[in-house]
Amino acid sequence: MKITLRLILSLIFIVAAVAFSFSFWQARQEEARLKNELERRANIVADSLKMSVEPLLSSDDKRYLQRIVDKFSNRERLVGIAIHDIQENLILASTDLLPKLQENPKVIAPNIQDVEKLSTEQGKFISFGKQQLHAYSVPLLTNEKVSHVLTIFHDAAYIQDRVGRIWINSFQRASIQAFLIALATMILVYLNIMTPIRKTTEWIRKVRQGESLEKLDPKGQQLLGPLANEITKMAKSLEMARFSAEEEARLRHTTESLWTPDRLKEFVRDKLKGRPLFVVSNREPYMHIKKGKEIECIVPASGLVTAIEPVLKACGGMWIAQGSGDADRETVDKDDKLRVPPEEPQYVLKRIWVDKELEDGFYSGFSNEGLWPLCHIAHTRPIFREKDWLAYMAVNKQFALAVVKELEGISEPNILIQDYHFALLPKMIKAARPDARVAIFWHIPWPNPESFGICPWQKEILQGMLGADIVGFHTQFHCNNFAETVDRFLESRIDYEHFTVSREGHTSWIKPFPISIDSNSTNGISSELKETKESLLKKHNIQADYMGVGVDRLDYTKGIIERFRAVEHFLEKNPEYIEKFTFVELGAPSRTMIAKYKEFVDDVVQVGEKINARFKTKTWQPILFLMKHHGHSEITPFYKAADVCLVTSLHDGMNLVAKEFVSARDDEKGVLILSQFTGASRELRDALIVNPYDIVQTAEAIKNALEMSAPEQKERMRNMRSVLKDHNIYRWASELVGELAQVRMDKV
Ligand code: G6P
Repeated sequence: MKITLRLILSLIFIVAAVAFSFSFWQARQEEARLKNELERRANIVADSLKMSVEPLLSSDDKRYLQRIVDKFSNRERLVGIAIHDIQENLILASTDLLPKLQENPKVIAPNIQDVEKLSTEQGKFISFGKQQLHAYSVPLLTNEKVSHVLTIFHDAAYIQDRVGRIWINSFQRASIQAFLIALATMILVYLNIMTPIRKTTEWIRKVRQGESLEKLDPKGQQLLGPLANEITKMAKSLEMARFSAEEEARLRHTTESLWTPDRLKEFVRDKLKGRPLFVVSNREPYMHIKKGKEIECIVPASGLVTAIEPVLKACGGMWIAQGSGDADRETVDKDDKLRVPPEEPQYVLKRIWVDKELEDGFYSGFSNEGLWPLCHIAHTRPIFREKDWLAYMAVNKQFALAVVKELEGISEPNILIQDYHFALLPKMIKAARPDARVAIFWHIPWPNPESFGICPWQKEILQGMLGADIVGFHTQFHCNNFAETVDRFLESRIDYEHFTVSREGHTSWIKPFPISIDSNSTNGISSELKETKESLLKKHNIQADYMGVGVDRLDYTKGIIERFRAVEHFLEKNPEYIEKFTFVELGAPSRTMIAKYKEFVDDVVQVGEKINARFKTKTWQPILFLMKHHGHSEITPFYKAADVCLVTSLHDGMNLVAKEFVSARDDEKGVLILSQFTGASRELRDALIVNPYDIVQTAEAIKNALEMSAPEQKERMRNMRSVLKDHNIYRWASELVGELAQVRMDKV
């Protein structure tokens, strides 16, 4: 029997049983009430009749007695009155009753013995043919002795009628209720269970057959929402496992070896001998922010986060970072920790709270107004203030204490320090824990000694960094700059053959580790996003045949204005693309408390508006500037649908947007235009490499990209994808961790 039918029948049975019990109880109550009432009425009649009748019993003339009895018999529902002697002989009866009594003397005769015995009145129900009667008898006295019995007969059929009606009404009510409940249950079951189950089953079938991995919308699943979430995750894991298996099979075939999360996990466990990995950065991988009454968890726009998160997801460990979301404190435990990623926790995030005033000097001031423009040659003047430097030292100290506390009880711990916010941290940690293995990875460029030389605290910064066993950069070029800078400003011994710096008995290895992404993260999920460029642009009332895309933090180093100018120049030179090509910039606001960044955003908006005003038509505009934080799921459809992606940084350590675009293009279509001043341009040689300052050259690259033949696009994309597959983030982490373990072994 189908589950729905079983459910409905059970419900009907339960409702019917409840209704039956209730009706039974109600009928019993009513019957008892009516019987009482009848008994009371008979009692009143009997009492008043008894007084009139008793004195007449001894008289031989019964006519007066007969008249009294007949008179009383007219009352409502009274069928008749009879008087028997104590031998049960009928003495007298009301006129209507007499023939019936003569026909059935036994049936109707009162139980004289009982009445006599009790010397009291009593009532009973009797059947008389089809009639139901109530007979109520009282003893009559002559000379204070029971000599006769008076019986009052009432019609009792109405009691059964009333009880019967109660049963019929209850039955009808119960039937209607059962029908309505069954109907409502059927509708609810159909909408909330059967339909979602049908959809889920169909979806699982598709996933199993490798047809689709659209997200199973938990909202549409009502009751099954939580289950849908879990199944979606399971299906994703299945898809990824299938993808990895295919990939490994392919690689086994070609004798290559791909770095996967599992392989890295094994490698790290082996190299670090089971010790946990600690990562320290300023930016945290998950930020909790308030949205009205809700708390939302977002992944901040940061190349560092994009790169490091898959490593910790694979290896576990602890990520120590500044808590910067306005709901961050509400989401940690008493030790300021939480397990992340929220949907599938794999490692611990420990949040450090930095005092607001210190943060201004440390983050906005020294890190982003000083070191950031110092290291990026983008012609923005660095600002060095002493109070910012003091705050920078204080926050590095605060982090050092927090890290050292977490290292308690772990011998030879491994710490990967990230980026320019923590140049002093390696030395501080080493001072407290000489047994620690420490690496610092510099995610941004390292300038030449002349440029770096303007920093008033150049020596302290270099000494701080050289506390590490490994100092990593994206490219050999940045390593060279760093070694030359150390050579220029510090007393030390530099071995250019092995690229090491030794001072005060400590050796640091200077090495390039070109960072990357998890190149599988968007491949396995190819069919998740079905947006086309038409549908993406239509949401903004734009129609265009070609779409370009740029994805950036709104930072002056990213060359966004140069990019807009190149689009303008392209349209000037190639008017046939007017109303045909739209460039979409997905810009995440960044470091908005810093004046330079505010001015920069205003400039971008202004330049975009001017270009749009110049060319736009009713249904088209050349530039669509979408300024907000976009999550991965919002960005990926643009990567997948764009004809061309523009990465025109004026200077960039690596630039992972370029790699993400290539990774998203499993259709092997689309063209990447890439600035020669990015680290990525050393690896992605099949991009159209441009000098972003050269507007004419970039405009020409846009034209070439849009007109590039499909086979050429395919070949270039394939080459770039294969570079990415080989050099993914897992290889990066394995090289860094491998070196870290190696360095210590050599030294011990
Ligand atoms: C660059 C830096 C990262 C930083 C990111 C975002 O990629 O190398 O360290 O996290 O920009 O900047 P933000 O200041 O928002 O962390």
